[in-house]
Amino acid sequence: MSKELRVLLLGNGGREHAILKACKASPLVKSVTVAPGNGGMEQEAICFSEVRADDVQEVVHLAQRLEANLVIVGPEAPLAAGVVDALRAVGIPVYGPDKQAARLEASKTFTKDFLMRHNIPTARGYRFDNAKAAVAFLEEREQFPVVLKADGLAAGKGVIIAQDCDEACDTAKEMLGGKFGRASSEILIEDFMSGEEASIMLMVDGERFVMLSPSQDHKRINDNDEGPNTGGMGAYAPAAVVTPELKQTIIDTLVKPTLAGLVADGIHYSGTLYIGIMITAEGPKVVEFNVRFGDPECQVLLPQLKTDPVELMYACATGTLDPTKVEFNDGYSAIVVLTAAGYPGTPRKGDKVTIPENLPKGVDVIHSGTQSDDSGDILSSGGRVLGVRAHAGTLEEALQKAYEVAEKIHFEGKHFRRDIGARQLARDVPAK
Ligand code: GLY
Repeated sequence: MSKELRVLLLGNGGREHAILKACKASPLVKSVTVAPGNGGMEQEAICFSEVRADDVQEVVHLAQRLEANLVIVGPEAPLAAGVVDALRAVGIPVYGPDKQAARLEASKTFTKDFLMRHNIPTARGYRFDNAKAAVAFLEEREQFPVVLKADGLAAGKGVIIAQDCDEACDTAKEMLGGKFGRASSEILIEDFMSGEEASIMLMVDGERFVMLSPSQDHKRINDNDEGPNTGGMGAYAPAAVVTPELKQTIIDTLVKPTLAGLVADGIHYSGTLYIGIMITAEGPKVVEFNVRFGDPECQVLLPQLKTDPVELMYACATGTLDPTKVEFNDGYSAIVVLTAAGYPGTPRKGDKVTIPENLPKGVDVIHSGTQSDDSGDILSSGGRVLGVRAHAGTLEEALQKAYEVAEKIHFEGKHFRRDIGARQLARDVPAK
Protein backbone atom coordinates (compact mmCIF):
# COMPACT_ATOMS: atom_id res chain seq x y z
CA MET A 1 0.00 0.00 0.00
CA SER A 2 1.45 3.37 -0.90
CA LYS A 3 -0.24 6.29 0.74
CA GLU A 4 0.61 9.70 2.06
CA LEU A 5 -1.34 9.81 5.28
CA ARG A 6 -1.97 13.05 7.12
CA VAL A 7 -2.93 11.69 10.52
CA LEU A 8 -4.76 13.50 13.30
CA LEU A 9 -4.39 11.54 16.54
CA LEU A 10 -6.79 12.24 19.43
CA GLY A 11 -5.86 11.72 23.07
CA ASN A 12 -3.24 12.52 25.68
CA GLY A 13 -2.24 9.28 27.44
CA GLY A 14 0.38 6.56 27.16
CA ARG A 15 -1.75 4.67 24.65
CA GLU A 16 -1.75 7.69 22.35
CA HIS A 17 1.99 8.29 22.79
CA ALA A 18 2.58 4.68 21.70
CA ILE A 19 0.31 5.21 18.67
CA LEU A 20 2.19 8.42 17.88
CA LYS A 21 5.48 6.49 17.90
CA ALA A 22 3.91 3.94 15.51
CA CYS A 23 2.82 6.78 13.22
CA LYS A 24 6.30 8.29 13.28
CA ALA A 25 7.76 4.89 12.31
CA SER A 26 5.25 4.26 9.52
CA PRO A 27 6.37 4.83 5.92
CA LEU A 28 2.72 5.57 5.06
CA VAL A 29 2.52 8.63 7.30
CA LYS A 30 3.49 11.99 5.79
CA SER A 31 2.47 14.03 8.84
CA VAL A 32 0.97 13.43 12.26
CA THR A 33 -0.67 16.01 14.48
CA VAL A 34 -2.08 15.44 17.95
CA ALA A 35 -4.95 16.89 19.98
CA PRO A 36 -4.47 17.53 22.84
CA GLY A 37 -1.26 15.47 23.49
CA ASN A 38 1.10 15.53 26.48
CA GLY A 39 4.60 16.70 27.37
CA GLY A 40 6.30 13.74 25.68
CA MET A 41 4.17 13.90 22.55
CA GLU A 42 4.98 17.62 22.18
CA GLN A 43 8.63 16.64 21.68
CA GLU A 44 7.68 14.49 18.68
CA ALA A 45 4.74 16.17 16.96
CA ILE A 46 2.69 19.36 16.75
CA CYS A 47 0.08 19.17 19.51
CA PHE A 48 -3.08 21.27 19.64
CA SER A 49 -3.20 21.23 23.42
CA GLU A 50 -6.26 23.52 23.56
CA VAL A 51 -8.47 21.14 21.53
CA ARG A 52 -10.37 18.64 23.64
CA ALA A 53 -10.56 15.23 22.02
CA ASP A 54 -14.28 14.94 22.83
CA ASP A 55 -15.25 18.37 21.49
CA VAL A 56 -16.87 17.07 18.33
CA GLN A 57 -17.07 20.35 16.38
CA GLU A 58 -13.53 21.42 17.30
CA VAL A 59 -12.14 18.07 16.21
CA VAL A 60 -13.98 18.16 12.88
CA HIS A 61 -12.75 21.72 12.21
CA LEU A 62 -9.18 20.76 13.07
CA ALA A 63 -9.29 17.63 10.90
CA GLN A 64 -10.62 19.68 7.98
CA ARG A 65 -8.05 22.44 8.50
CA LEU A 66 -5.23 19.88 8.52
CA GLU A 67 -6.76 18.04 5.53
CA ALA A 68 -6.40 14.87 7.59
CA ASN A 69 -7.06 11.68 5.66
CA LEU A 70 -6.91 9.47 8.76
CA VAL A 71 -8.10 10.35 12.25
CA ILE A 72 -7.13 7.88 14.99
CA VAL A 73 -9.24 8.12 18.14
CA GLY A 74 -7.39 6.91 21.25
CA PRO A 75 -9.75 7.20 24.27
CA GLU A 76 -13.40 6.25 24.76
CA ALA A 77 -14.88 9.68 25.57
CA PRO A 78 -14.66 11.07 22.00
CA LEU A 79 -16.10 7.81 20.66
CA ALA A 80 -19.06 8.01 23.06
CA ALA A 81 -19.49 11.69 22.15
CA GLY A 82 -19.88 10.85 18.45
CA VAL A 83 -16.61 12.19 17.03
CA VAL A 84 -16.45 9.30 14.57
CA ASP A 85 -19.98 9.91 13.24
CA ALA A 86 -19.22 13.60 12.68
CA LEU A 87 -15.91 12.91 10.91
CA ARG A 88 -17.46 10.25 8.68
CA ALA A 89 -20.28 12.64 7.84
CA VAL A 90 -17.71 14.99 6.25
CA GLY A 91 -15.92 12.13 4.48
CA ILE A 92 -12.83 11.76 6.68
CA PRO A 93 -11.67 8.16 7.32
CA VAL A 94 -11.46 7.48 11.03
CA TYR A 95 -10.17 4.59 13.12
CA GLY A 96 -12.66 3.94 15.89
CA PRO A 97 -16.30 2.87 16.28
CA ASP A 98 -19.26 5.22 15.94
CA LYS A 99 -21.44 6.42 18.80
CA GLN A 100 -23.89 3.53 18.56
CA ALA A 101 -21.12 0.90 18.61
CA ALA A 102 -19.32 2.77 21.42
CA ARG A 103 -22.25 1.88 23.69
CA LEU A 104 -20.47 -1.46 24.17
CA GLU A 105 -18.23 0.46 26.56
CA ALA A 106 -20.42 3.44 27.43
CA SER A 107 -23.35 1.34 28.72
CA LYS A 108 -22.78 -1.80 30.79
CA THR A 109 -26.51 -2.64 30.70
CA PHE A 110 -26.58 -2.37 26.89
CA THR A 111 -23.61 -4.74 26.74
CA LYS A 112 -25.07 -7.26 29.16
CA ASP A 113 -28.31 -7.34 27.16
CA PHE A 114 -26.29 -7.80 23.97
CA LEU A 115 -24.21 -10.66 25.43
CA MET A 116 -27.18 -12.47 26.94
CA ARG A 117 -29.34 -12.04 23.82
CA HIS A 118 -26.62 -13.53 21.61
CA ASN A 119 -25.75 -16.33 24.07
CA ILE A 120 -22.15 -15.18 24.45
CA PRO A 121 -20.61 -16.57 27.66
CA THR A 122 -20.60 -13.96 30.44
CA ALA A 123 -21.67 -13.63 34.09
CA ARG A 124 -25.44 -13.38 34.65
CA GLY A 125 -26.45 -9.77 35.24
CA TYR A 126 -29.51 -7.93 36.52
CA ARG A 127 -30.41 -4.25 35.88
CA PHE A 128 -31.70 -1.87 38.54
CA ASP A 129 -32.67 1.79 38.45
CA ASN A 130 -33.93 2.10 42.02
CA ALA A 131 -32.19 1.31 45.28
CA LYS A 132 -35.21 -0.32 46.95
CA ALA A 133 -35.47 -3.02 44.27
CA ALA A 134 -31.69 -3.55 44.23
CA VAL A 135 -31.55 -4.00 48.02
CA ALA A 136 -34.55 -6.41 47.97
CA PHE A 137 -32.77 -8.45 45.28
CA LEU A 138 -29.50 -8.52 47.23
CA GLU A 139 -31.23 -9.50 50.49
CA GLU A 140 -32.76 -12.53 48.77
CA ARG A 141 -29.39 -13.55 47.32
CA GLU A 142 -27.27 -16.29 48.83
CA GLN A 143 -24.10 -16.02 46.76
CA PHE A 144 -21.43 -13.42 47.50
CA PRO A 145 -19.16 -11.76 46.46
CA VAL A 146 -21.18 -9.93 43.83
CA VAL A 147 -20.15 -7.35 41.22
CA LEU A 148 -21.85 -3.96 40.96
CA LYS A 149 -21.30 -1.86 37.85
CA ALA A 150 -22.41 1.68 37.13
CA ASP A 151 -24.08 1.67 33.72
CA GLY A 152 -22.15 4.58 32.23
CA LEU A 153 -18.55 5.78 31.94
CA ALA A 154 -17.18 6.46 35.43
CA ALA A 155 -13.47 7.07 34.77
CA GLY A 156 -12.62 3.42 35.49
CA LYS A 157 -14.08 3.60 39.02
CA GLY A 158 -17.59 2.30 38.37
CA VAL A 159 -17.00 -1.40 39.12
CA ILE A 160 -17.11 -2.60 42.75
CA ILE A 161 -16.75 -6.17 44.03
CA ALA A 162 -18.84 -6.39 47.22
CA GLN A 163 -17.83 -9.21 49.57
CA ASP A 164 -21.14 -9.54 51.44
CA CYS A 165 -24.75 -8.43 51.44
CA ASP A 166 -24.22 -5.33 53.62
CA GLU A 167 -21.40 -4.03 51.43
CA ALA A 168 -23.41 -4.78 48.28
CA CYS A 169 -26.52 -2.97 49.61
CA ASP A 170 -24.48 0.07 50.68
CA THR A 171 -22.76 0.18 47.29
CA ALA A 172 -26.07 -0.14 45.41
CA LYS A 173 -27.60 2.69 47.48
CA GLU A 174 -24.55 4.91 46.95
CA MET A 175 -24.41 4.30 43.22
CA LEU A 176 -28.13 4.72 42.61
CA GLY A 177 -28.06 7.72 44.95
CA GLY A 178 -25.84 9.54 42.43
CA LYS A 179 -22.26 8.59 43.35
CA PHE A 180 -21.28 8.69 39.67
CA GLY A 181 -23.96 11.14 38.56
CA ARG A 182 -25.90 10.04 35.48
CA ALA A 183 -23.41 7.19 34.94
CA SER A 184 -24.94 5.34 37.91
CA SER A 185 -28.61 6.26 37.47
CA GLU A 186 -28.83 2.61 36.42
CA ILE A 187 -26.62 -0.24 37.68
CA LEU A 188 -25.89 -3.84 36.87
CA ILE A 189 -25.54 -6.49 39.56
CA GLU A 190 -23.55 -9.44 38.26
CA ASP A 191 -22.47 -12.87 39.45
CA PHE A 192 -18.82 -12.87 40.51
CA MET A 193 -16.54 -14.88 38.20
CA SER A 194 -13.32 -16.37 39.48
CA GLY A 195 -10.32 -17.25 37.33
CA GLU A 196 -7.46 -15.47 35.64
CA GLU A 197 -8.08 -12.35 33.54
CA ALA A 198 -6.56 -11.56 30.16
CA SER A 199 -7.04 -8.82 27.60
CA ILE A 200 -7.88 -9.67 24.01
CA MET A 201 -7.68 -6.83 21.52
CA LEU A 202 -9.03 -7.01 18.01
CA MET A 203 -8.68 -4.61 15.11
CA VAL A 204 -12.08 -4.88 13.50
CA ASP A 205 -13.62 -4.09 10.12
CA GLY A 206 -17.19 -5.43 10.33
CA GLU A 207 -16.88 -9.20 10.64
CA ARG A 208 -13.22 -9.22 9.58
CA PHE A 209 -10.73 -8.91 12.42
CA VAL A 210 -7.09 -9.20 13.41
CA MET A 211 -6.54 -10.62 16.88
CA LEU A 212 -3.51 -8.99 18.49
CA SER A 213 -1.32 -10.87 20.96
CA PRO A 214 -3.08 -11.71 24.23
CA SER A 215 -1.81 -9.47 27.01
CA GLN A 216 -2.11 -9.06 30.76
CA ASP A 217 -2.53 -5.80 32.63
CA HIS A 218 -1.72 -5.34 36.36
CA LYS A 219 -4.56 -3.31 37.83
CA ARG A 220 -3.66 -2.98 41.53
CA ILE A 221 -1.25 -0.31 42.73
CA ASN A 222 1.11 -2.62 44.68
CA ASP A 223 3.01 -5.87 44.13
CA ASN A 224 1.14 -9.16 44.62
CA ASP A 225 -2.06 -7.49 43.37
CA GLU A 226 -2.49 -5.58 46.61
CA GLY A 227 -3.99 -2.14 47.20
CA PRO A 228 -6.57 -0.19 45.24
CA ASN A 229 -7.35 -0.55 41.54
CA THR A 230 -5.63 1.76 39.08
CA GLY A 231 -5.85 2.41 35.35
CA GLY A 232 -3.06 -0.16 34.91
CA MET A 233 0.45 -0.41 36.42
CA GLY A 234 2.11 -2.47 33.71
CA ALA A 235 1.50 -5.06 31.03
CA TYR A 236 3.21 -7.66 28.91
CA ALA A 237 2.52 -9.63 25.74
CA PRO A 238 2.12 -12.31 24.62
CA ALA A 239 0.44 -13.72 27.73
CA ALA A 240 1.02 -17.47 27.98
CA VAL A 241 -2.18 -17.94 29.97
CA VAL A 242 -3.93 -17.74 26.60
CA THR A 243 -2.65 -20.95 25.04
CA PRO A 244 -3.13 -21.57 21.30
CA GLU A 245 -6.10 -23.88 22.12
CA LEU A 246 -7.67 -21.27 24.38
CA LYS A 247 -7.12 -18.63 21.72
CA GLN A 248 -9.12 -20.72 19.27
CA THR A 249 -11.89 -21.20 21.86
CA ILE A 250 -11.97 -17.43 22.40
CA ILE A 251 -12.30 -16.87 18.66
CA ASP A 252 -15.06 -19.48 18.30
CA THR A 253 -17.10 -18.74 21.42
CA LEU A 254 -16.54 -15.03 22.05
CA VAL A 255 -15.10 -13.16 19.06
CA LYS A 256 -17.07 -14.54 16.13
CA PRO A 257 -20.45 -14.55 17.96
CA THR A 258 -19.82 -10.97 19.09
CA LEU A 259 -19.02 -9.68 15.61
CA ALA A 260 -21.93 -11.65 14.10
CA GLY A 261 -24.23 -10.32 16.85
CA LEU A 262 -23.23 -6.75 16.05
CA VAL A 263 -23.94 -7.28 12.35
CA ALA A 264 -27.30 -8.92 13.21
CA ASP A 265 -28.16 -5.89 15.36
CA GLY A 266 -27.34 -3.53 12.49
CA ILE A 267 -24.19 -2.16 14.12
CA HIS A 268 -21.20 -1.69 11.82
CA TYR A 269 -18.14 -2.01 14.04
CA SER A 270 -14.85 -0.51 12.91
CA GLY A 271 -11.87 0.09 15.20
CA THR A 272 -10.42 -1.64 18.24
CA LEU A 273 -12.60 -4.02 20.21
CA TYR A 274 -11.08 -4.89 23.57
CA ILE A 275 -12.55 -7.96 25.17
CA GLY A 276 -11.72 -8.30 28.86
CA ILE A 277 -12.01 -12.03 29.51
CA MET A 278 -12.09 -14.21 32.58
CA ILE A 279 -10.68 -17.71 32.10
CA THR A 280 -13.10 -19.64 34.30
CA ALA A 281 -13.34 -23.37 34.99
CA GLU A 282 -16.21 -23.39 32.46
CA GLY A 283 -14.15 -21.69 29.76
CA PRO A 284 -13.48 -18.08 28.76
CA LYS A 285 -16.21 -15.53 29.48
CA VAL A 286 -16.62 -11.85 28.66
CA VAL A 287 -16.02 -9.53 31.62
CA GLU A 288 -16.40 -6.32 29.62
CA PHE A 289 -15.92 -4.72 26.25
CA ASN A 290 -13.97 -1.57 25.64
CA VAL A 291 -14.14 0.17 22.31
CA ARG A 292 -10.51 1.35 22.21
CA PHE A 293 -7.07 -0.05 22.91
CA GLY A 294 -6.30 -0.78 26.55
CA ASP A 295 -3.79 1.44 28.29
CA PRO A 296 -1.08 0.18 29.01
CA GLU A 297 -1.85 -2.89 26.86
CA CYS A 298 -1.66 -0.88 23.61
CA GLN A 299 1.92 0.05 24.41
CA VAL A 300 2.99 -3.63 24.42
CA LEU A 301 0.78 -4.75 21.53
CA LEU A 302 2.00 -2.39 18.84
CA PRO A 303 5.63 -3.68 18.96
CA GLN A 304 4.27 -7.21 18.55
CA LEU A 305 3.02 -6.32 15.05
CA LYS A 306 5.42 -6.77 12.14
CA THR A 307 2.75 -5.40 9.80
CA ASP A 308 2.53 -1.61 10.08
CA PRO A 309 -0.20 -0.87 12.68
CA VAL A 310 -1.11 2.35 10.85
CA GLU A 311 -1.75 0.35 7.67
CA LEU A 312 -4.19 -1.82 9.65
CA MET A 313 -5.91 1.22 11.18
CA TYR A 314 -6.32 2.81 7.74
CA ALA A 315 -7.64 -0.50 6.36
CA CYS A 316 -10.25 -0.71 9.15
CA ALA A 317 -11.16 2.94 8.60
CA THR A 318 -11.73 2.38 4.89
CA GLY A 319 -13.33 -1.09 5.02
CA THR A 320 -10.38 -2.83 3.34
CA LEU A 321 -8.89 -4.99 6.13
CA ASP A 322 -7.28 -8.21 4.90
CA PRO A 323 -6.49 -10.28 8.02
CA THR A 324 -4.63 -12.93 5.99
CA LYS A 325 -1.79 -10.51 5.30
CA VAL A 326 -0.96 -9.66 8.92
CA GLU A 327 2.38 -10.71 10.39
CA PHE A 328 3.70 -10.64 13.95
CA ASN A 329 7.15 -10.13 15.42
CA ASP A 330 8.92 -12.67 17.56
CA GLY A 331 9.73 -11.81 21.15
CA TYR A 332 8.08 -10.20 24.12
CA SER A 333 7.05 -6.68 25.03
CA ALA A 334 6.62 -5.30 28.54
CA ILE A 335 5.83 -1.96 30.10
CA VAL A 336 6.36 -0.77 33.66
CA VAL A 337 4.21 2.24 34.62
CA LEU A 338 5.64 4.91 36.95
CA THR A 339 3.02 6.70 39.02
CA ALA A 340 2.88 9.88 41.11
CA ALA A 341 2.55 9.97 44.91
CA GLY A 342 -1.10 9.84 45.92
CA TYR A 343 -2.26 7.83 42.87
CA PRO A 344 -4.88 6.32 42.43
CA GLY A 345 -6.28 9.00 44.72
CA THR A 346 -5.44 12.64 43.98
CA PRO A 347 -1.93 12.55 42.47
CA ARG A 348 0.86 14.97 43.34
CA LYS A 349 1.60 17.10 40.24
CA GLY A 350 4.18 19.57 38.97
CA ASP A 351 7.33 17.60 39.84
CA LYS A 352 10.26 17.79 37.44
CA VAL A 353 10.82 14.47 35.65
CA THR A 354 14.31 13.50 34.53
CA ILE A 355 14.79 10.77 31.97
CA PRO A 356 18.13 9.28 30.86
CA GLU A 357 19.13 10.58 27.42
CA ASN A 358 20.51 7.44 25.86
CA LEU A 359 18.09 4.57 26.17
CA PRO A 360 19.17 0.98 25.48
CA LYS A 361 18.12 -0.56 22.16
CA GLY A 362 14.52 -1.75 22.26
CA VAL A 363 13.51 0.58 25.11
CA ASP A 364 11.16 3.61 24.89
CA VAL A 365 9.80 5.99 27.46
CA ILE A 366 6.08 6.48 26.90
CA HIS A 367 4.54 9.59 28.46
CA SER A 368 1.09 9.61 30.06
CA GLY A 369 0.59 12.31 32.71
CA THR A 370 3.25 14.83 31.71
CA GLN A 371 3.41 18.38 30.40
CA SER A 372 6.32 20.56 29.36
CA ASP A 373 6.97 23.96 30.95
CA ASP A 374 8.26 27.13 29.23
CA SER A 375 11.89 26.02 29.60
CA GLY A 376 11.16 22.64 28.02
CA ASP A 377 11.37 20.70 31.28
CA ILE A 378 8.98 17.78 31.68
CA LEU A 379 6.68 18.01 34.71
CA SER A 380 4.33 15.42 36.13
CA SER A 381 0.68 16.30 35.49
CA GLY A 382 -1.29 13.13 36.22
CA GLY A 383 -1.39 9.89 38.20
CA ARG A 384 0.25 7.60 35.66
CA VAL A 385 3.25 9.73 34.73
CA LEU A 386 5.29 7.56 32.36
CA GLY A 387 5.80 4.01 31.24
CA VAL A 388 9.06 2.31 30.33
CA ARG A 389 8.47 -0.10 27.48
CA ALA A 390 10.92 -2.72 26.28
CA HIS A 391 10.90 -5.36 23.56
CA ALA A 392 13.32 -8.32 23.64
CA GLY A 393 13.70 -11.99 22.75
CA THR A 394 12.45 -13.17 26.12
CA LEU A 395 10.04 -11.71 28.64
CA GLU A 396 12.75 -11.83 31.30
CA GLU A 397 15.07 -9.72 29.15
CA ALA A 398 12.32 -7.24 28.24
CA LEU A 399 11.45 -6.77 31.92
CA GLN A 400 15.08 -6.43 32.95
CA LYS A 401 15.62 -3.67 30.37
CA ALA A 402 12.43 -1.86 31.39
CA TYR A 403 13.29 -2.01 35.10
CA GLU A 404 16.85 -0.75 34.51
CA VAL A 405 15.50 2.42 32.91
CA ALA A 406 12.62 2.75 35.41
CA GLU A 407 15.22 2.95 38.20
CA LYS A 408 17.07 5.75 36.38
CA ILE A 409 14.02 7.99 35.87
CA HIS A 410 13.54 10.48 38.69
CA PHE A 411 10.65 12.48 40.06
CA GLU A 412 9.54 13.12 43.61
CA GLY A 413 7.25 10.35 44.89
CA LYS A 414 7.90 7.93 41.97
CA HIS A 415 6.24 4.56 42.49
CA PHE A 416 6.17 1.40 40.38
CA ARG A 417 5.40 -2.27 40.77
CA ARG A 418 8.33 -4.63 40.78
CA ASP A 419 6.40 -7.73 39.77
CA ILE A 420 5.16 -6.98 36.27
CA GLY A 421 5.09 -10.27 34.35
CA ALA A 422 6.16 -12.23 37.44
CA ARG A 423 3.25 -14.63 37.18
CA GLN A 424 4.24 -15.60 33.64
CA LEU A 425 7.91 -15.95 34.58
CA ALA A 426 6.88 -18.27 37.43
CA ARG A 427 4.72 -20.25 35.03
CA ASP A 428 7.77 -20.85 32.84
CA VAL A 429 5.68 -21.71 29.78
CA PRO A 430 6.66 -20.25 26.43
CA ALA A 431 3.76 -18.31 24.87
CA LYS A 432 4.80 -19.10 21.33
N1 GLY B 1 -5.91 -1.37 31.06
C1 GLY B 1 -7.29 -1.32 31.22
C2 GLY B 1 -8.01 -0.44 30.32
O1 GLY B 1 -7.44 0.19 29.45
O2 GLY B 1 -9.22 -0.31 30.44
